[in-house]
Amino acid sequence: MEKIVYPDEITGFSTEEHRFEPYSWYREMRTSHPVYFDPKQKVWNVFLYRDVERVLSDYQLFSSKNDRKLSSFPVIGKKERSLTSMDPPLHSKRRGLVAKAFTPKSLKTWEPRIVTVAQYWLDQIREQDTIDLVYDLAIPLPVTVIAELLGVPASDWKQFKLWSDAIISPGSRDTYAESVKERSRALKEMADYLLPIIGQKRSRPTDDIISDLTIAEVEGERLSDEEIIHFGIGLLFAGNETTTRLISNAFYCFLIDQPAAYPLLRKELSLIPKAVEEVLRYRSPAQFMMRRVAQDTNVFGVEMKEGESIIAWIGSANRDGEHFVQAEQFDLNRPNNQQHLSFGKGTHFCLGAPLARMEASIGLAEFMKRYSRLILPEQWSLSENLGQRGFLARFPVRVER
Ligand code: HEM
Repeated sequence: MEKIVYPDEITGFSTEEHRFEPYSWYREMRTSHPVYFDPKQKVWNVFLYRDVERVLSDYQLFSSKNDRKLSSFPVIGKKERSLTSMDPPLHSKRRGLVAKAFTPKSLKTWEPRIVTVAQYWLDQIREQDTIDLVYDLAIPLPVTVIAELLGVPASDWKQFKLWSDAIISPGSRDTYAESVKERSRALKEMADYLLPIIGQKRSRPTDDIISDLTIAEVEGERLSDEEIIHFGIGLLFAGNETTTRLISNAFYCFLIDQPAAYPLLRKELSLIPKAVEEVLRYRSPAQFMMRRVAQDTNVFGVEMKEGESIIAWIGSANRDGEHFVQAEQFDLNRPNNQQHLSFGKGTHFCLGAPLARMEASIGLAEFMKRYSRLILPEQWSLSENLGQRGFLARFPVRVER
């Protein structure tokens, strides 16, 4: 069986427009094939909220240890060392180490630093009448925030962005081999970059995540340089692209899905965090995750065999009308929108969720304070270089102060 799973070959999507708007396909699958075995990719797929929730959270039945992998998913160093490829009890131990850097206390101290970074980027575009919401804000903000929190020079952000892009592979079959080479090169360059920084932090720890990792201990042992590099790269990847998508999608929702939202939120900035939850539900930055069936089961009414792979379609679960009333509508007042599955569920629940939420809310609020009205472009563009999942590449708007 092929090791790589190509989601595009399951969905049949061939354009970025399809990938950006997969929702009618999800609807069809929820109605006609809620539990579906794809014969070509040889992988199960679930689309209903309750099934996606089960697959993500029931690690005894659906394990994160899998020899097969999604073409679009990055592999950072040795796969078995990545948090998202482990099950408890090992997972709980490793996660505990990184979690030390993501405490509520850390978040409190990060808040003013994030405000400063957001204001810095908005100052850079102060004179412009047209702003590219992706390029001028949604890309630089998360990459500089994560650099700042890791404790590496934020001025190197362009280089981080290049590395981060190279780590996410374009997931189509034709480009896969080439992208693996690119990824290895980026990983090596990043490791070479981080190594001397780790050395400095070991002798003079400062207030950042890499310093925290140099003093963290697992069963009485300190992490090696290689392990810290691995965590650092993992966080750079996990915290970057997804948050860029969240911020870009927020603007898309507020301007196109529900045009009344921008002026409304601008008047009442305290509503932004709840609006961000609806963006996460409505246009999830991560649309799917994969697991391995760990024991024979018929929990979904069909026989699944140990060792088979299964994709949980998060983007579909979030639009399941059985769970969310009028699920296909973007609704700022939705009472239960926090129940979206965009950060996963259970033991692997996204460690950076509070950071991503805070970063998006701060970035949007600081932006809205400066601009009263946005006039939409005739054209925006979708990315062509990240094969599996369409997302906004350019979203220029004219601004009024
Ligand atoms: C909007 C932004 C984000 C989204 C949509 C997102 C989504 C996710 C999802 C769906 C998972 C679960 C993976 C699984 O079940 O296999 C996850 C895990 C994770 N995320 Fe995020 N993430 C975001 C931002 C961040 C940030 C900012 C960081 C850190 C800087 C981060 C760090 C992690 C880590 C370390 C894990 C692994 C947790 C584990 O396996 O125990 N994420 N994320």
